[in-house]
Amino acid sequence: MHAPLWDADSPNTVIAGDNLPVLETLPAGSFQLICIDPPFNTGRTQRAQRIRTVRSAAGDRVGFKGQTYQTLRGALTAYDDTFISYWDFLAPRLEQAWRLLAATGTLYLHLDYREVHYAKVMLDALFGRECFLNEIIWAYDYGARAKRRWPTKHDNILVYVKDPKKYHFNSDEVDREPYMAPGLVTAEKVARGKLPTDVWWHTIVAPNARERTGYPTQKPVGVLKRIVAASSRPGDWVLDFFAGSGTTGAAAAELNRKYLLIDSHTEAIDVMRRRLSRTTPPPQFLTADGELAAT
Ligand SMILES: C[S@@+](CC[C@H](N)C(=O)[O-])C[C@H]1O[C@@H](n2cnc3c(N)ncnc32)[C@H](O)[C@@H]1O
Repeated sequence: MHAPLWDADSPNTVIAGDNLPVLETLPAGSFQLICIDPPFNTGRTQRAQRIRTVRSAAGDRVGFKGQTYQTLRGALTAYDDTFISYWDFLAPRLEQAWRLLAATGTLYLHLDYREVHYAKVMLDALFGRECFLNEIIWAYDYGARAKRRWPTKHDNILVYVKDPKKYHFNSDEVDREPYMAPGLVTAEKVARGKLPTDVWWHTIVAPNARERTGYPTQKPVGVLKRIVAASSRPGDWVLDFFAGSGTTGAAAAELNRKYLLIDSHTEAIDVMRRRLSRTTPPPQFLTADGELAAT
């Protein structure tokens, strides 16, 4: 196990390395907001791994709310064995997310339509169904259109709170949207715009967008800013342990929140170095061994 690399007095921080061993060192209850966008299940089944992991990682582990989620895992993976290695990858990291959330905190888990239903069941077992707040549909309209089925042009974001009686959510801080039928509401309302629902229309990061970093899975900062604005306060700590190009950090910095980002991919660290070094205050970069990562 690593020595703790971070505490609440640290500056904004980016850590290069596998997230799980790092997360295990962090103090419980430290983060108001956790936003993660893990790599999607690619569908590449590793049968050798199946034999190992069935007996090990999940074991007889009991969900935080008392459900035996080993049973759930068995039921789910019986339908789709490409999901076994994904479950064994994601579940211990989601357990850490639960442990690290503050009592008023919220987790946003960004997935696509192939994973979201499995992950919902997993998170219900980990957090308790009463902690499920929303499923946000982020809809966009870009790229080629399938002709043999409805073209899939959305991602799913599952939202869970640590405590349904205590969580922080401030819709007054959120950017508002134009009314779809402005003729039906007062001019005052039109000028103010409407509060977003759980369906967010937002363009992807366009090839010519200023925010574009070149990182292939980069998410729009507008989507992250809405999340950060609603579910944290200025000065709060925000964690993203699948950080990629650092979009969560960019949104947190713009809204005066502090951030801890982790990614295992060298290219992601390089992109974040370019992107976040321009923000105020710029982050420190560490390796999982605690040394300053080379520039
Ligand atoms: C979908 S991308 C995140 C993109 C990000 N939301 C953005 O806007 O750029 C997922 C990231 O998770 C990272 N990752 C995958 N496995 C990891 C692990 N075990 N530890 C840390 N990072 C990991 C990948 O390197 C990748 O950058």
